[in-house]
Amino acid sequence: MTLQDKLDQLYKLREESKLGGGTRRIEQQHARGKLTARERIQVLVDPGSFEEVDSFVTHRATEFGLETQQYPGDAVVTGFAKIGGRPVSLYSEDFTVFGGSLSEVVGEKICKIMDLAVRNGTPIIGLKDSGGARIQEGVLSLGGYGDIFLRNVMSSGVIPQISVIMGPCAGGAVYSPALTDFIFMVKGIGQMYITGPDVIKAVTGEEVTHEELGGADSHSARSGVAHFAFDSEEECLSMVAKLLSFLPLSNMEDPPHKTSTDNPFRRDEELLDIVPADSNLAYDMREVLNILVDDHDFFEVHQNFAPNIIVGFARFDGRSVGIVAQQPSYLAGVLDIDSSIKAARFVRFCDAFNIPIVTFVDVPGFLPGTSQEYGGIIKHGAKLLYAYAEATVPKITIITRKSYGGAYVVMGSKHLRSDINYAWPTSEIAVMGPDGAVNIIHREEINSSDNPQETRQRLIAEYIEKFANPYVAAGRGYIDDVIDPRDTRTKIVRALEMLENKRDTNPPKKHGNIPL
Ligand code: HXC
Repeated sequence: MTLQDKLDQLYKLREESKLGGGTRRIEQQHARGKLTARERIQVLVDPGSFEEVDSFVTHRATEFGLETQQYPGDAVVTGFAKIGGRPVSLYSEDFTVFGGSLSEVVGEKICKIMDLAVRNGTPIIGLKDSGGARIQEGVLSLGGYGDIFLRNVMSSGVIPQISVIMGPCAGGAVYSPALTDFIFMVKGIGQMYITGPDVIKAVTGEEVTHEELGGADSHSARSGVAHFAFDSEEECLSMVAKLLSFLPLSNMEDPPHKTSTDNPFRRDEELLDIVPADSNLAYDMREVLNILVDDHDFFEVHQNFAPNIIVGFARFDGRSVGIVAQQPSYLAGVLDIDSSIKAARFVRFCDAFNIPIVTFVDVPGFLPGTSQEYGGIIKHGAKLLYAYAEATVPKITIITRKSYGGAYVVMGSKHLRSDINYAWPTSEIAVMGPDGAVNIIHREEINSSDNPQETRQRLIAEYIEKFANPYVAAGRGYIDDVIDPRDTRTKIVRALEMLENKRDTNPPKKHGNIPL
C-alpha cells in the first residue's frame, strides 16, 4: 500500500464515520426537525475549531445480531473546540446510530472527554439526544451511565458543566444533566422524564403527552429542572455560547474581563422614578437591573421558574457578576420554597466559580401558609441562607425597598459576611412590616382604646416613621451607606474594583451539610 492508498483509506473511514447511522437516518433526523450531532457542533463552536476524537471507536457487542451493525464512532461525537475564542470540551449524542443510545463504548468516549476537560480546566458541554441505555448491551450500558455520573459529581465546582437537551433524555439518563450546572432545552424537541407516558399510564392511570410531561415548558416553568428553554436549536446553542462568555473556564480562574465601552460612572435619572411612593405598589426589578448593568445587557437564568426572584449574569465595567434580585411585581417578591432553591443554587454556582454576587433586595419576608410550611420552607429557606453565608466571593447588596425579618438576614446581609451593603433612601429595614408589628406590640393599647381603628393607624404611622427606613440599620453599621439611587452603578463598579483581590475562607472540613 502506498502512502496515497493509506491516506485514501483514512479519508474513506473518516467519511464513513461522519455519516453516523447513514444517509437515510440523517434524513429521518432532519424530518423530525432536528439537526444531526455534527451539525449541532458546527452551529455551537467557532468555525473550523472542532477537533474530533475517537471517531474510529466501535461497539464490542455481539448479542442480538449487533456484530453486523457497526458504525465508526458509535452513537456519540466527542472532541474539543473553541467558543468565543476559548477552549471547551464537548460531546454530542448521535440519534442516527441506535437512537443515540448509550453503549459501553459511548460511555467510555464520554468519560474520556470529561476526564480531558477536568484535567485541563475547560467547560464540558453535552448535547443530549438519546433513547437511553443501549438495550442490547444491558448492564454494560448502566455501568457507562454510572461512570458518567461519578465524573459529573467529581467535576462539580471544578469546571462549568452544561447540558443541552435536543431530543429524548429518559430514565436514569436524566441524572447526568441533573448533576450539571445548567440545563438548556429546545421547545418541542427536548424531553426529559424518569418514566415516560406509557409507564405512567400503566402504573397510575394518568394520561399525559411526552411534551406535557417532559418538554421544555414543563421543566423550565414548573419543575425548575431546566434553566433555559428556546424555540430553535440554533437559538439555544447561541445562548450556550453567551452563557459561557460570563464564566471562567474552571474554578482555578477568574471570570473573563471584557473591555467595556459603557461609562462605569453613568448616572441614571430613571432610577428615581422606579420605586413607587406607596410601598405596597409593585415595580419591575428587571428595569432596575437593565438600567444598571453594562450595555443594559442582563442575561437571565431560570427566567420562567419562581419569577418572584430573578437570577442571572451581567457585567459592571467589564467584570462578570451573578445577580440575585427580588421581583416585587410577582408575589411582591416574597421568598418561598421555589425562589429559595432557585437562588441558593445560583449563589453556590457563582461562589464555586469566583463570580462576585450582587444582590438587590425588596422582600416583604417569607411566604406564610400551610402549603409552604408542609412543603418545608424552613429547610428550603435555610438553603439560601447557607449559600450566602458560605460564599467567599465578593458580595455586594443593595436594598431598594423592603427588607423585613428573616428575609433581611438571608438576602446577603452584613451578618452573613457580605462585603458592601448599600440601601436606597426608600428602604424599609425592620424586624417585620408595620401592620404586623403594631398588631403584636400594641395589641392591648389598640383593643382598650375608644377608637381602635384610629389608634391602630396612628401607631402604624409612628412605627413607619421610626423603623421603616434605612437609618436604624445604617446607624448600627449593618448598612455601609444610604445612597442616591442614581449613584448605584458607580458604587457597584467601585466596590467590585476594591474587592477584586478578596480572599476569604471557610474552616477546613470534608464538606458542610447544607439542608437538602
Ligand atoms: C437501542 C434504541 C434505543 C435504545 C432507540 N433505539 N432507543 N436502540 N437502545 N435504548 C433505536 C430504535 O430501535 C430505532 O432503531 C432507532 O433507535 C430510532 O428509534 P425510534 O423508536 O424509531 O425513534 P422515535 O420514534 O423518535 O422514538 C425515540 C424514543 C424511542 C422515544 C427514544 O426509541 C424509545 O422509547 N426508545 C426506548 C427508550 C428506553 O426505554 N430506553 C431504555 C431506558 S432504560 P431502528 O433500527 O428500528 O430504526 C435506561 C436506563 C438508564 O435508559 C439508567 C441509567 C442509570
